[in-house]
Amino acid sequence: RTLDVNPVMVEKQGFKHYMLKEIYEQPGVVRACLEAYFDTEWSAAKASSPTKIGLSDAVLDDLQQVQIIACGTSWHAGLVGKYLLEQLAGIPTSVHYASEYRYSASPLTKNTLTIGVTQSGETADTLAALAMEQERRSTLSSGFEARLLGITNRPESSLGHLVPNIIETHAGIEIGVAATKTFVAQVMAFYSLAIDLTYRRQARSSEALEQLLDGLRQLPAQIELILESQERYIEELAHDFAETQDFIFLGRGINFPIALEGALKLKEISYIHAEGYPAGEMKHGPIALLDAKVPVVTIAMPGTVFEKVLSNAQEARARDARLIGVTPMDEQEAADTFDTLIPVPHVDEILSPILTVIPLQLLAYHIAARRGLDVDQPRNLAKSVTVE
Ligand code: G6P
Repeated sequence: RTLDVNPVMVEKQGFKHYMLKEIYEQPGVVRACLEAYFDTEWSAAKASSPTKIGLSDAVLDDLQQVQIIACGTSWHAGLVGKYLLEQLAGIPTSVHYASEYRYSASPLTKNTLTIGVTQSGETADTLAALAMEQERRSTLSSGFEARLLGITNRPESSLGHLVPNIIETHAGIEIGVAATKTFVAQVMAFYSLAIDLTYRRQARSSEALEQLLDGLRQLPAQIELILESQERYIEELAHDFAETQDFIFLGRGINFPIALEGALKLKEISYIHAEGYPAGEMKHGPIALLDAKVPVVTIAMPGTVFEKVLSNAQEARARDARLIGVTPMDEQEAADTFDTLIPVPHVDEILSPILTVIPLQLLAYHIAARRGLDVDQPRNLAKSVTVE
Protein backbone atom coordinates (compact mmCIF):
# COMPACT_ATOMS: atom_id res chain seq x y z
CA ARG A 1 0.00 0.00 0.00
CA THR A 2 1.40 3.38 -0.90
CA LEU A 3 0.42 6.86 0.11
CA ASP A 4 -1.78 8.50 -2.49
CA VAL A 5 -0.45 11.99 -1.97
CA ASN A 6 1.21 13.73 -4.86
CA PRO A 7 3.53 16.38 -3.39
CA VAL A 8 3.32 18.61 -6.45
CA MET A 9 -0.43 18.90 -5.85
CA VAL A 10 0.27 20.77 -2.63
CA GLU A 11 1.80 24.17 -3.25
CA LYS A 12 4.58 25.65 -1.15
CA GLN A 13 2.75 28.98 -1.11
CA GLY A 14 5.93 31.05 -1.21
CA PHE A 15 7.76 29.08 1.45
CA LYS A 16 11.16 27.71 0.52
CA HIS A 17 10.33 24.26 1.85
CA TYR A 18 7.21 22.31 2.74
CA MET A 19 8.54 21.88 6.25
CA LEU A 20 8.60 25.63 6.86
CA LYS A 21 5.12 25.99 5.38
CA GLU A 22 3.89 23.22 7.65
CA ILE A 23 5.48 24.83 10.71
CA TYR A 24 3.56 28.00 9.82
CA GLU A 25 0.31 26.08 9.43
CA GLN A 26 0.34 25.03 13.07
CA PRO A 27 -1.82 27.84 14.50
CA GLY A 28 -4.52 26.84 12.00
CA VAL A 29 -4.08 23.16 12.84
CA VAL A 30 -4.55 23.82 16.55
CA ARG A 31 -7.66 25.89 15.75
CA ALA A 32 -9.07 23.06 13.63
CA CYS A 33 -8.41 20.56 16.43
CA LEU A 34 -10.05 22.84 19.02
CA GLU A 35 -13.13 23.10 16.81
CA ALA A 36 -13.27 19.37 16.19
CA TYR A 37 -12.59 18.12 19.71
CA PHE A 38 -14.11 20.62 22.11
CA ASP A 39 -17.38 22.31 22.88
CA THR A 40 -16.01 25.78 22.30
CA GLU A 41 -18.82 27.35 24.36
CA TRP A 42 -18.17 25.09 27.33
CA SER A 43 -18.00 26.54 30.82
CA ALA A 44 -17.98 25.04 34.30
CA ALA A 45 -21.71 25.84 34.59
CA LYS A 46 -22.60 23.37 31.82
CA ALA A 47 -23.72 19.87 32.71
CA SER A 48 -22.42 18.30 29.48
CA SER A 49 -18.94 17.10 28.52
CA PRO A 50 -16.37 19.70 27.41
CA THR A 51 -15.28 17.41 24.58
CA LYS A 52 -16.90 15.99 21.47
CA ILE A 53 -14.53 13.24 20.41
CA GLY A 54 -17.43 10.82 19.93
CA LEU A 55 -16.03 7.77 21.71
CA SER A 56 -18.55 5.54 23.45
CA ASP A 57 -18.75 4.51 27.10
CA ALA A 58 -17.71 0.99 26.07
CA VAL A 59 -14.37 2.44 24.98
CA LEU A 60 -13.71 4.90 27.78
CA ASP A 61 -15.57 3.93 30.96
CA ASP A 62 -13.92 2.06 33.84
CA LEU A 63 -10.43 2.07 32.35
CA GLN A 64 -7.68 0.68 34.55
CA GLN A 65 -4.81 1.39 32.20
CA VAL A 66 -3.91 2.82 28.84
CA GLN A 67 -1.14 1.63 26.59
CA ILE A 68 0.13 3.68 23.68
CA ILE A 69 1.95 2.16 20.71
CA ALA A 70 3.78 4.23 18.08
CA CYS A 71 7.04 4.98 16.24
CA GLY A 72 9.18 8.09 15.78
CA THR A 73 7.55 11.45 16.35
CA SER A 74 4.21 9.77 17.05
CA TRP A 75 5.90 7.95 19.93
CA HIS A 76 6.92 11.35 21.34
CA ALA A 77 3.30 12.52 21.09
CA GLY A 78 2.42 9.35 23.00
CA LEU A 79 4.83 10.33 25.78
CA VAL A 80 3.09 13.70 26.12
CA GLY A 81 -0.19 11.76 26.09
CA LYS A 82 1.00 9.57 28.96
CA TYR A 83 1.77 12.64 31.03
CA LEU A 84 -1.72 14.07 30.36
CA LEU A 85 -3.57 10.81 31.00
CA GLU A 86 -1.73 10.19 34.24
CA GLN A 87 -1.52 13.73 35.62
CA LEU A 88 -5.01 14.90 34.58
CA ALA A 89 -7.19 11.79 34.42
CA GLY A 90 -5.18 9.67 36.87
CA ILE A 91 -4.97 6.60 34.60
CA PRO A 92 -1.74 4.53 34.62
CA THR A 93 -0.34 4.72 31.08
CA SER A 94 2.57 3.06 29.32
CA VAL A 95 4.13 4.02 25.99
CA HIS A 96 5.75 1.46 23.71
CA TYR A 97 7.78 1.43 20.53
CA ALA A 98 5.68 -0.61 18.11
CA SER A 99 8.74 -2.49 16.86
CA GLU A 100 9.46 -3.65 20.41
CA TYR A 101 5.90 -4.25 21.52
CA ARG A 102 5.23 -6.71 18.71
CA TYR A 103 7.70 -9.15 20.22
CA SER A 104 7.19 -8.49 23.92
CA ALA A 105 3.58 -7.45 24.51
CA SER A 106 2.36 -6.43 27.97
CA PRO A 107 -0.21 -8.54 29.80
CA LEU A 108 -3.72 -7.39 29.01
CA THR A 109 -6.66 -6.84 31.26
CA LYS A 110 -10.21 -6.22 30.10
CA ASN A 111 -10.04 -2.61 31.12
CA THR A 112 -6.98 -1.71 29.09
CA LEU A 113 -7.39 0.86 26.32
CA THR A 114 -4.77 0.42 23.60
CA ILE A 115 -4.02 3.43 21.43
CA GLY A 116 -2.06 3.31 18.18
CA VAL A 117 -0.66 6.67 17.12
CA THR A 118 0.42 7.02 13.50
CA GLN A 119 0.26 10.09 11.32
CA SER A 120 0.19 8.09 8.08
CA GLY A 121 -1.81 5.15 9.38
CA GLU A 122 0.55 2.96 7.34
CA THR A 123 3.60 2.36 9.54
CA ALA A 124 4.16 -1.40 9.35
CA ASP A 125 5.29 -1.97 12.93
CA THR A 126 2.44 0.06 14.41
CA LEU A 127 -0.13 -1.75 12.26
CA ALA A 128 1.31 -5.16 13.15
CA ALA A 129 1.32 -4.37 16.89
CA LEU A 130 -2.31 -3.22 16.74
CA ALA A 131 -3.39 -6.22 14.66
CA MET A 132 -1.81 -8.40 17.33
CA GLU A 133 -3.69 -6.54 20.06
CA GLN A 134 -6.93 -6.97 18.19
CA GLU A 135 -6.29 -10.70 17.86
CA ARG A 136 -5.41 -11.05 21.55
CA ARG A 137 -8.58 -9.22 22.53
CA SER A 138 -10.85 -11.41 20.48
CA THR A 139 -9.84 -14.34 22.69
CA LEU A 140 -10.90 -12.51 25.86
CA SER A 141 -14.49 -11.88 26.93
CA SER A 142 -16.84 -10.01 24.59
CA GLY A 143 -17.09 -6.23 24.61
CA PHE A 144 -13.36 -5.94 25.06
CA GLU A 145 -12.66 -5.45 21.34
CA ALA A 146 -14.02 -1.92 21.58
CA ARG A 147 -11.06 -0.74 23.65
CA LEU A 148 -8.80 -0.18 20.67
CA LEU A 149 -8.26 3.34 19.36
CA GLY A 150 -6.25 4.90 16.56
CA ILE A 151 -5.01 8.49 16.43
CA THR A 152 -4.21 9.30 12.82
CA ASN A 153 -4.14 12.04 10.25
CA ARG A 154 -5.53 9.62 7.65
CA PRO A 155 -8.71 7.87 8.78
CA GLU A 156 -8.91 6.27 5.32
CA SER A 157 -5.58 4.49 5.94
CA SER A 158 -4.91 0.85 6.84
CA LEU A 159 -5.08 1.84 10.51
CA GLY A 160 -8.53 3.30 9.91
CA HIS A 161 -9.69 -0.05 8.61
CA LEU A 162 -8.04 -2.01 11.38
CA VAL A 163 -9.31 -0.36 14.57
CA PRO A 164 -12.93 0.25 15.65
CA ASN A 165 -12.32 3.80 16.95
CA ILE A 166 -10.44 6.76 15.52
CA ILE A 167 -9.57 10.25 16.65
CA GLU A 168 -8.69 12.07 13.46
CA THR A 169 -5.94 14.66 13.70
CA HIS A 170 -6.84 17.71 11.66
CA ALA A 171 -3.42 18.61 10.32
CA GLY A 172 -4.07 18.39 6.59
CA ILE A 173 -1.56 16.67 4.29
CA GLU A 174 2.01 16.80 5.55
CA ILE A 175 4.68 16.57 2.86
CA GLY A 176 7.92 17.27 4.76
CA VAL A 177 9.37 13.96 5.92
CA ALA A 178 10.10 15.43 9.35
CA ALA A 179 6.73 15.60 11.13
CA THR A 180 5.76 19.00 12.54
CA LYS A 181 2.10 19.95 12.29
CA THR A 182 0.94 16.34 12.62
CA PHE A 183 2.81 16.10 15.94
CA VAL A 184 1.04 19.17 17.28
CA ALA A 185 -2.29 17.74 16.11
CA GLN A 186 -1.56 14.42 17.84
CA VAL A 187 -0.82 16.22 21.07
CA MET A 188 -4.12 18.11 20.69
CA ALA A 189 -5.88 14.75 20.28
CA PHE A 190 -4.35 13.64 23.58
CA TYR A 191 -5.58 16.82 25.31
CA SER A 192 -9.08 16.01 24.15
CA LEU A 193 -8.88 12.37 25.22
CA ALA A 194 -7.33 13.22 28.60
CA ILE A 195 -9.89 15.96 29.24
CA ASP A 196 -12.74 13.66 28.23
CA LEU A 197 -11.52 11.02 30.67
CA THR A 198 -10.87 13.61 33.39
CA TYR A 199 -14.45 14.81 33.05
CA ARG A 200 -15.88 11.27 33.05
CA ARG A 201 -13.93 10.32 36.14
CA GLN A 202 -14.40 13.70 37.80
CA ALA A 203 -10.69 13.76 38.42
CA ARG A 204 -10.60 17.58 38.34
CA SER A 205 -13.13 20.25 39.21
CA SER A 206 -15.19 21.85 36.42
CA GLU A 207 -13.44 25.13 37.20
CA ALA A 208 -10.04 23.54 36.65
CA LEU A 209 -11.23 22.11 33.33
CA GLU A 210 -12.62 25.48 32.30
CA GLN A 211 -9.25 27.04 32.99
CA LEU A 212 -7.55 24.36 30.93
CA LEU A 213 -9.92 24.95 28.03
CA ASP A 214 -9.34 28.69 28.24
CA GLY A 215 -5.62 28.03 28.03
CA LEU A 216 -6.03 25.72 25.04
CA ARG A 217 -8.01 28.41 23.20
CA GLN A 218 -5.09 30.83 23.54
CA LEU A 219 -2.55 28.48 21.98
CA PRO A 220 -3.06 29.39 18.29
CA ALA A 221 -2.37 33.08 18.90
CA GLN A 222 0.59 32.18 21.11
CA ILE A 223 2.12 30.00 18.38
CA GLU A 224 1.62 32.90 15.96
CA LEU A 225 3.47 35.17 18.35
CA ILE A 226 6.44 32.78 18.51
CA LEU A 227 6.55 32.49 14.73
CA GLU A 228 6.32 36.25 14.22
CA SER A 229 8.78 37.26 16.89
CA GLN A 230 11.33 34.44 16.86
CA GLU A 231 11.79 33.01 13.39
CA ARG A 232 14.21 35.63 12.11
CA TYR A 233 16.19 35.42 15.33
CA ILE A 234 16.36 31.61 15.20
CA GLU A 235 17.49 31.82 11.59
CA GLU A 236 20.39 34.02 12.66
CA LEU A 237 21.15 31.77 15.60
CA ALA A 238 21.30 28.80 13.23
CA HIS A 239 24.31 30.40 11.51
CA ASP A 240 26.33 29.74 14.64
CA PHE A 241 25.58 26.02 14.52
CA ALA A 242 26.01 25.10 10.89
CA GLU A 243 29.31 23.36 11.74
CA THR A 244 28.33 21.98 15.15
CA GLN A 245 28.65 18.21 15.48
CA ASP A 246 26.73 17.40 18.65
CA PHE A 247 23.75 18.86 20.46
CA ILE A 248 22.08 18.00 23.75
CA PHE A 249 18.41 18.79 24.42
CA LEU A 250 17.11 18.80 27.98
CA GLY A 251 13.59 18.93 29.39
CA ARG A 252 11.70 17.48 32.30
CA GLY A 253 8.16 16.33 32.97
CA ILE A 254 5.83 17.13 30.12
CA ASN A 255 8.69 18.80 28.26
CA PHE A 256 10.98 15.78 28.33
CA PRO A 257 9.29 14.38 25.19
CA ILE A 258 9.79 17.79 23.58
CA ALA A 259 13.53 17.54 24.24
CA LEU A 260 13.43 14.16 22.47
CA GLU A 261 11.45 15.65 19.61
CA GLY A 262 13.83 18.63 19.27
CA ALA A 263 16.78 16.23 19.06
CA LEU A 264 14.98 13.99 16.56
CA LYS A 265 14.08 16.92 14.28
CA LEU A 266 17.71 18.05 14.24
CA LYS A 267 19.05 14.55 13.53
CA GLU A 268 16.52 13.89 10.79
CA ILE A 269 17.10 16.93 8.67
CA SER A 270 20.51 18.36 9.57
CA TYR A 271 22.38 15.05 10.21
CA ILE A 272 23.85 16.54 13.37
CA HIS A 273 24.17 14.14 16.26
CA ALA A 274 21.66 15.18 18.90
CA GLU A 275 20.39 13.58 22.08
CA GLY A 276 17.36 14.42 24.14
CA TYR A 277 17.52 13.72 27.85
CA PRO A 278 15.40 14.25 30.93
CA ALA A 279 17.46 17.06 32.47
CA GLY A 280 17.94 15.26 35.79
CA GLU A 281 19.56 12.30 34.02
CA MET A 282 22.29 14.42 32.43
CA LYS A 283 24.61 13.80 35.33
CA HIS A 284 24.36 10.04 34.78
CA GLY A 285 26.38 9.95 31.60
CA PRO A 286 25.74 12.63 28.99
CA ILE A 287 27.50 15.25 31.08
CA ALA A 288 30.75 13.51 30.07
CA LEU A 289 30.11 14.67 26.48
CA LEU A 290 29.91 18.34 27.35
CA ASP A 291 32.49 20.95 26.46
CA ALA A 292 32.50 24.31 24.72
CA LYS A 293 31.71 22.63 21.39
CA VAL A 294 28.44 21.01 22.51
CA PRO A 295 25.47 23.39 22.78
CA VAL A 296 22.77 22.45 25.28
CA VAL A 297 19.20 23.43 24.48
CA THR A 298 17.09 23.45 27.63
CA ILE A 299 13.32 23.75 27.88
CA ALA A 300 12.56 25.53 31.14
CA MET A 301 8.89 26.33 31.76
CA PRO A 302 7.62 27.57 35.13
CA GLY A 303 5.86 24.81 37.06
CA THR A 304 6.74 21.68 39.01
CA VAL A 305 10.31 21.29 37.73
CA PHE A 306 11.36 24.82 36.75
CA GLU A 307 14.00 25.35 39.43
CA LYS A 308 15.31 21.83 38.95
CA VAL A 309 15.74 22.34 35.22
CA LEU A 310 17.57 25.61 35.75
CA SER A 311 19.98 23.98 38.15
CA ASN A 312 20.55 21.15 35.66
CA ALA A 313 21.36 23.78 33.02
CA GLN A 314 23.83 25.41 35.41
CA GLU A 315 25.63 22.06 35.72
CA ALA A 316 26.09 22.15 31.96
CA ARG A 317 27.36 25.73 32.12
CA ALA A 318 30.10 24.65 34.52
CA ARG A 319 31.36 22.42 31.64
CA ASP A 320 31.61 25.43 29.30
CA ALA A 321 28.65 24.34 27.19
CA ARG A 322 26.78 27.10 25.37
CA LEU A 323 23.33 27.22 26.94
CA ILE A 324 20.25 27.97 24.89
CA GLY A 325 17.03 28.27 26.86
CA VAL A 326 13.46 27.96 25.65
CA THR A 327 11.75 29.81 28.47
CA PRO A 328 9.33 32.69 29.16
CA MET A 329 10.65 36.18 28.57
CA ASP A 330 9.72 37.44 32.03
CA GLU A 331 11.71 34.91 34.07
CA GLN A 332 14.76 36.68 35.41
CA GLU A 333 16.41 33.61 36.87
CA ALA A 334 16.16 31.83 33.54
CA ALA A 335 17.46 34.91 31.73
CA ASP A 336 20.49 34.86 34.03
CA THR A 337 21.09 31.15 33.48
CA PHE A 338 21.12 30.94 29.68
CA ASP A 339 23.61 32.46 27.22
CA THR A 340 20.92 32.62 24.56
CA LEU A 341 17.19 32.91 25.15
CA ILE A 342 14.40 31.83 22.84
CA PRO A 343 11.39 33.32 24.62
CA VAL A 344 7.96 31.71 24.51
CA PRO A 345 4.74 32.98 26.14
CA HIS A 346 4.19 32.25 29.82
CA VAL A 347 1.64 29.42 29.95
CA ASP A 348 0.47 26.71 32.29
CA GLU A 349 3.11 24.00 32.23
CA ILE A 350 0.61 21.39 31.14
CA LEU A 351 -0.11 23.30 27.92
CA SER A 352 3.48 24.26 27.21
CA PRO A 353 4.59 21.44 24.84
CA ILE A 354 2.52 22.91 22.02
CA LEU A 355 4.57 26.11 22.35
CA THR A 356 8.02 24.81 23.29
CA VAL A 357 8.20 22.49 20.29
CA ILE A 358 7.84 25.40 17.82
CA PRO A 359 11.28 27.01 18.34
CA LEU A 360 12.91 23.58 18.23
CA GLN A 361 11.29 22.83 14.87
CA LEU A 362 12.50 26.22 13.59
CA LEU A 363 16.01 25.66 14.93
CA ALA A 364 16.30 22.26 13.21
CA TYR A 365 14.84 23.70 10.02
CA HIS A 366 17.16 26.69 9.84
CA ILE A 367 20.29 24.72 10.72
CA ALA A 368 19.49 22.21 7.96
CA ALA A 369 18.63 24.96 5.48
CA ARG A 370 21.84 26.78 6.38
CA ARG A 371 23.78 23.60 5.68
CA GLY A 372 22.12 23.51 2.28
CA LEU A 373 20.44 20.16 2.87
CA ASP A 374 17.32 18.72 1.33
CA VAL A 375 15.06 19.57 4.24
CA ASP A 376 11.89 17.98 2.86
CA GLN A 377 13.51 14.76 1.66
CA PRO A 378 16.32 13.91 4.09
CA ARG A 379 18.66 11.07 3.19
CA ASN A 380 17.76 7.54 4.28
CA LEU A 381 14.33 8.52 5.61
CA ALA A 382 10.83 7.91 4.31
CA LYS A 383 7.64 9.73 5.22
CA SER A 384 6.00 6.45 6.01
CA VAL A 385 7.88 3.22 6.73
CA THR A 386 5.72 0.45 5.34
CA VAL A 387 8.27 -2.31 5.90
CA GLU A 388 9.30 -3.92 9.18
C1 G6P B 1 8.97 7.74 9.76
C2 G6P B 1 9.02 9.23 9.59
C3 G6P B 1 8.87 9.91 10.96
C4 G6P B 1 7.61 9.42 11.64
C5 G6P B 1 7.59 7.90 11.77
C6 G6P B 1 6.26 7.39 12.25
O1 G6P B 1 10.14 7.30 10.41
O2 G6P B 1 10.23 9.63 8.99
O3 G6P B 1 8.79 11.32 10.79
O4 G6P B 1 7.50 10.01 12.90
O5 G6P B 1 7.82 7.32 10.50
O6 G6P B 1 5.29 7.66 11.27
P1 G6P B 1 3.75 7.58 11.52
O7 G6P B 1 3.13 7.80 10.16
O8 G6P B 1 3.47 6.19 12.03
O9 G6P B 1 3.37 8.60 12.50
